[in-house]
Amino acid sequence: NSGAVIFDLDGIVVDTTGLQFLAWRKIANDFGFDFSKDQNEGLKGLSREDCLKQILAWGNIKLSVKDFHKWMDIKNSYYLNYIYEMDASAILPGTLELMDVLQEENIPFALGSASKSGKIVLKQLGIYSRFDAVVDGNDVKNGKPDPEIFLLAANRLGFAPSACVVFEDAVAGVQAANRAGMISIGVGNKGLQKEADFTFNNLTEVTREFLQNFLLFQS
Ligand code: BG6
Ligand code: MG
Repeated sequence: NSGAVIFDLDGIVVDTTGLQFLAWRKIANDFGFDFSKDQNEGLKGLSREDCLKQILAWGNIKLSVKDFHKWMDIKNSYYLNYIYEMDASAILPGTLELMDVLQEENIPFALGSASKSGKIVLKQLGIYSRFDAVVDGNDVKNGKPDPEIFLLAANRLGFAPSACVVFEDAVAGVQAANRAGMISIGVGNKGLQKEADFTFNNLTEVTREFLQNFLLFQS
């Protein structure tokens, strides 16, 4: 075949969007303010560093470099506490079935996540070894909407960017896929309809025929 798939993690493979939100909210609360679910939309897909920068801007807070790093570590400890409680029931509907179809069709797939806990989460869920390549926030300099994560994933899969299809739930992620020159598929977020090449409500809607169309007969 001549195509490959790249999955975002949080909000695509696994139901961690609420957990990321909770951890970031605790940080804002520690600083004495709060932010809304709507504001959280703008954090989705961004790196830990970029999320903290955004939250500090909302709270009008300035930190030294040392304290900035300290608060990134605190966020991560909040988040990891949630993650270690998680089991395979957190895998989102349609994910495992879609992976089965891809394997049957010999279509390789990778993870392309901004989260530095990407590998930990896949291992915790018992699905790490199913991926042909895994790129997470530890492997790159630039977070989404920069295309670096997806370009590295394509490179590790051995496919040209134009032969890759990306599943994303975040605006920054769809923008990263578009900038990488890949086919972008927005999932579970009406706000992605403008920017993504295709949209679905969830992964159970993605059919074998849809994948075959894009991945088996690519030129
Ligand atoms: C992205 C999430 O996948 O990872 C963001 O969409 C999150 O919400 C970001 O902040 C960074 O995650 P981590 O685990 O490296 O702090
Ligand atoms: Mg996501």
